[in-house]
Amino acid sequence: MTDELDRFVEDLQNQIYEETREAFGDVVYNRWRNPRHMGRMDLPDGHARVSGSCGDTMEIFLRFKDNRVIDASFLTDGCGPSLVCASYAAELAMGKSPEEVAAVSGWTILDLLGGLPEENEHCAFLAAETLHQALSNYTDRPR
Ligand code: FES
Repeated sequence: MTDELDRFVEDLQNQIYEETREAFGDVVYNRWRNPRHMGRMDLPDGHARVSGSCGDTMEIFLRFKDNRVIDASFLTDGCGPSLVCASYAAELAMGKSPEEVAAVSGWTILDLLGGLPEENEHCAFLAAETLHQALSNYTDRPR
């Protein structure tokens, strides 16, 4: 009985994975299964927590050295695409100057992903907005 149940759950999970890959493509699927840069950062130089109109919240943490991002990470309680977009937002920030980080937009993220279904495009813009606010948190600090 347990074996049957295990097999049923595994089949169901594989079906969900396959449907997700078909709906969102390989780039999104692979990042969703292996999200990079996920986690809280202690004492970041820049941090923002932003809630989108969908009700989901993202956080981005930035660490700078010599005015370049040397570490970036994210957290989100949102949907799968929000996790993927926040992961790419953090990745895109790596090694960049504040001006270069400011140039990262929702479109930059969508281009990297090869697009998202229209109803999920806002996830990329929420990620970019969170990144920009984390950057402002860094640039606005008195030095
Ligand atoms: Fe809210 Fe994706 S549905 S961030």
